[in-house]
Amino acid sequence: MRLTAYRKAHFNAAHRLYRPDWSDEKNEKIFGKCNNPHFHGHNYDMEIGVSGEVDPETGYLIDLKILKDIIKSEVEDALDHKNLNEEVPEFKELIPTAEHIAFVIYNKIKAKLDPKYDLEVKLYETPRNFVLYKGE
Ligand code: NI
Repeated sequence: MRLTAYRKAHFNAAHRLYRPDWSDEKNEKIFGKCNNPHFHGHNYDMEIGVSGEVDPETGYLIDLKILKDIIKSEVEDALDHKNLNEEVPEFKELIPTAEHIAFVIYNKIKAKLDPKYDLEVKLYETPRNFVLYKGE
């Protein structure tokens, strides 16, 4: 029996979407409000999904405490109340869009998770705008 277990999590962070190789006008046109040179915050919500076979002996797919601890150390401790552009090494060269943040979160969790599981990261930048990354 195969299924997906989810854990919800949350962090607050500031960012600016900006390409230094573009003019101010082009940055403003493409990135809009998220180009604000003074940075701005989002309340990011996540749904982290782990898929695999349920262990017939325990009835568990994964002990969700394990997933909780990975999310805490790899995502919350690394990103919560941070300026993503200036304080998080992964975004030195990567624009911190929701797409790229989901990608970074996926890679950080994947590195700590038993490889027998498939992982998916759903990241909400606003209650209505979200992305899903499954490592493809
Ligand atoms: Ni923004």
